[in-house]
Amino acid sequence: MSATHTPRIFSGIQPSGGLTLGNYLGALKRFAEYQGGAAETIYCVVDLHAITVWQDPEALRAQTREAAAAFMAAGVDPVQSVLFNQSQVPAHAEMAWLFNTVARVGWMYRMTQFKDKAGKNSENASLGLLAYPALMAADILTYHATAVPVGEDQKQHLELTRDIAAKFNHDYGVDFFPMTNPLIEGVATRVMSLRDGSKKMSKSDPSDASRINLTDDADTIAQKIRKARTDADPLPGSMEGLQDRPEARNLVNIYAALSGETGDQVLARFEGQGFGAFKPALAEVAVSVLSPITAKMTELKSDPAEIDRILGDGAERAEAIARPIVERTKEIMGMIRSRR
Ligand code: TYM
Repeated sequence: MSATHTPRIFSGIQPSGGLTLGNYLGALKRFAEYQGGAAETIYCVVDLHAITVWQDPEALRAQTREAAAAFMAAGVDPVQSVLFNQSQVPAHAEMAWLFNTVARVGWMYRMTQFKDKAGKNSENASLGLLAYPALMAADILTYHATAVPVGEDQKQHLELTRDIAAKFNHDYGVDFFPMTNPLIEGVATRVMSLRDGSKKMSKSDPSDASRINLTDDADTIAQKIRKARTDADPLPGSMEGLQDRPEARNLVNIYAALSGETGDQVLARFEGQGFGAFKPALAEVAVSVLSPITAKMTELKSDPAEIDRILGDGAERAEAIARPIVERTKEIMGMIRSRR
């Protein structure tokens, strides 16, 4: 019989640079929507993940606070949810070490994010970058999280999390870790670059024009949308007609995700029109949704001590859930704890 686990949602975002519209639509916006449901919600700024590639210490502090501000500006309530930064809860690093002994090296080399980030010179990548997915599994499983909302690009890491849980349960003959469900839902699970419809929108893309940052002002957003790559054809009446038009499809999906409609509903209004009409409308929706979030982030960032207080409080609540699970994991593995 399989153990039943309390419904619990966990997700994280790296503070490795400014956040983008992709992070907002694929993750942040949805985080707030899960609050107040049957599951407890735990959200984390994953600073230990960020340092797998070099981060300037001062910049990391600012980016961590900015990410925390983005969570709250997007609607995450730090009382209703647990909101903290990863490094303040030692259970993550501890569990990651235990999982480093469960996960196989071959699994890590197969991760597309590792291949992308390590590039051609993978011998020179940090060992942490390779082990990254074991830390991510630790984040999730140290809370016995049952569901993890993420964008499409994290799917492979969540499959690996299940592999680690299954191998641990099997090797130690227990039914301790849950099989976590990925929640990859909605029309914006993979927001693409504004310059290249085959690449995902990313904070690490060298071209700032490829993305909308959550800190961009209204003029910048409008300008980036105006310059977004498209084609010359008019818009069709339904999403089926956009199958071979990745840039057009991306813009319609962004519109739909922002306005809370389906792509087909959006296209029903714009059928037969070109991007000359569509882009200004998209810019208007984007600005109306993002401006209040940007303004709220600015307001929150003006009080860094308050952000730190919130993160510290969240870390204590997180620790209370994580600690017994790590201790039990060590016990299952045969470690003695006799210290008082
Ligand atoms: P990160 O920081 O790259 O991205 C944070 C979240 O944003 C989503 N996302 C996108 N969604 C749609 N379109 C895009 N263009 C786009 N870009 C990013 C990501 O899918 C993610 O949900 N490894 C994770 C962080 C992490 C984590 C965790 C997530 C660490 N531990 C435990 C869940 C659970 C990462 O690098 O996400």
